[in-house]
Amino acid sequence: MAEERKQPQTKQPQPKKLTIDEMATFCKRKGFVYQNSEIYGGMSGFFDYGPLGVELKNNIKHEWWKAHVQSRQDVVGIDGSIITHPKVWEASGHVANFTDIMAKCGKCGNSVRADHIVEDKAKVSTTGLYAPQLQELIFKHKVKCPRCGTDALKIAQPFNLMFKTTVGPSEGKEAEAYLRPETAQLIFANFKLVQENARMKLPFGIAQIGKAFRNEISPRDFLFRCREFEQMEIEYFVHPHKVENCPYVDEFSSYEINVLTSEMQKKGGSEHKKMKIKEMLDKKLILPWHAYWLAFEHNWFVGLGAKSENLRIRQHVKEEKSHYATDTWDLEYNFPFGWKELEGISNRSDYDLQQHIKASGKDLGYFDPETSAKVVPHVVAEPSLGVDRTFLVFLFDAYEYDSKRENIVLHLNPKLAPIKVAVFPLLSNKEELVTAAKKIYDELKEDFSCLYDEAGSIGKRYARMDEAGTPFCVTIDFDSLAKHDVTIRDRDSTKQARVKIKELPNILWQLLSGKIDFGNLH
Ligand code: GLY
Repeated sequence: MAEERKQPQTKQPQPKKLTIDEMATFCKRKGFVYQNSEIYGGMSGFFDYGPLGVELKNNIKHEWWKAHVQSRQDVVGIDGSIITHPKVWEASGHVANFTDIMAKCGKCGNSVRADHIVEDKAKVSTTGLYAPQLQELIFKHKVKCPRCGTDALKIAQPFNLMFKTTVGPSEGKEAEAYLRPETAQLIFANFKLVQENARMKLPFGIAQIGKAFRNEISPRDFLFRCREFEQMEIEYFVHPHKVENCPYVDEFSSYEINVLTSEMQKKGGSEHKKMKIKEMLDKKLILPWHAYWLAFEHNWFVGLGAKSENLRIRQHVKEEKSHYATDTWDLEYNFPFGWKELEGISNRSDYDLQQHIKASGKDLGYFDPETSAKVVPHVVAEPSLGVDRTFLVFLFDAYEYDSKRENIVLHLNPKLAPIKVAVFPLLSNKEELVTAAKKIYDELKEDFSCLYDEAGSIGKRYARMDEAGTPFCVTIDFDSLAKHDVTIRDRDSTKQARVKIKELPNILWQLLSGKIDFGNLH
């Protein structure tokens, strides 16, 4: 039986949460994220990552890949192309079903997402509502066009969210293709090759990180709903006769999560309840693979600094499930604008593989060596996560305004921090300190993401690094020259410790990887 995991605990106190606009302002000021093409007035739903942002984003992807692919024998990765054969999207059902309901203003022509405008203006839930019910709510609550203010909003044709493009110089239907709206289909289309090449035995997963594109009717809430975004996804395949047999779920038996089931929602509840995984399984609220992946994902977030009180799992009610899903649970985060999907984990059964078998005429079955029979595996769980939403979650839960320091401190996990170590001479006008500091920086930068800074007072330099989330600052002072040592300053406590220069790389490595706590240095 698998050994039980320890549940990571939230360490930081809960400060007041920023609004999403305040977070966007902070991200721009510090060089995390910019509005795309701002000098031309910006382009709605597109963002560019700046110097600190690209490092944080890369670190998130690296940690995800390490935990989900490199440290698991049952998951391998691929990197599929963004444009793929349009028949993939016909077979997957995206051409027919990947739509949102749009409301169009009969006066000014403005288009808005019908469910969003009803929720915003009428303050009622629209989960699972279809076009006629949304139209009724628009009338009943006199929902006005947000652009011209008239009562002329009418439900229009469903709007397909896939971006179209043309491939090659020809025009017309035969040149049409789509930018992928999810990375998942590249995994299904390559399933047979990957399974055979990597000699994978069921149960196993195929993972992918990459860009996806959705032509959102009304992108909003900064990075939360963009038109171009990045996904980290796994399709986890299981033998069709063993869909309830998860050998790993016991690792999480006593793991506790905030839970909101579809039953609780049907009874009108919107409050979650804390439950152990074992309790959920015993009460048959969830299947074991689904429970395992939800707990695994929750644990990954909390282990890297997300606060468990800001996370919950919510089961989709029947009407909101995607066209391919038999059951879906979202890992939700308590964003400043409410509890929203951070990661969707669907049971896609054999829907996608069967669709591609039908449409391509190819045999995508798995040869089961135990029974010598061909079977079509089921995807019992599809952990599907947006990198950009994950980026927001780690920033929100790291952000604190420290009134004593009078500056912002980003308590990012050192594994995620864009800059791991900053190196300063105490005074920039003392050549011997500058020379010694540059020498240390040159050595450290071989192994760590480092920054050298001599501009402004030492207090200002510490404050800049607090705001960038840099966990450790190394300062070279006059004692350093005589004693061959430096101070390391800890971002979270502001405490300092002196360490020998020759021990510095090893100590920093241990601090950054969590092998020792800063307190051990005293
Ligand atoms: N592959 C699932 C999603 O993109 O939502």
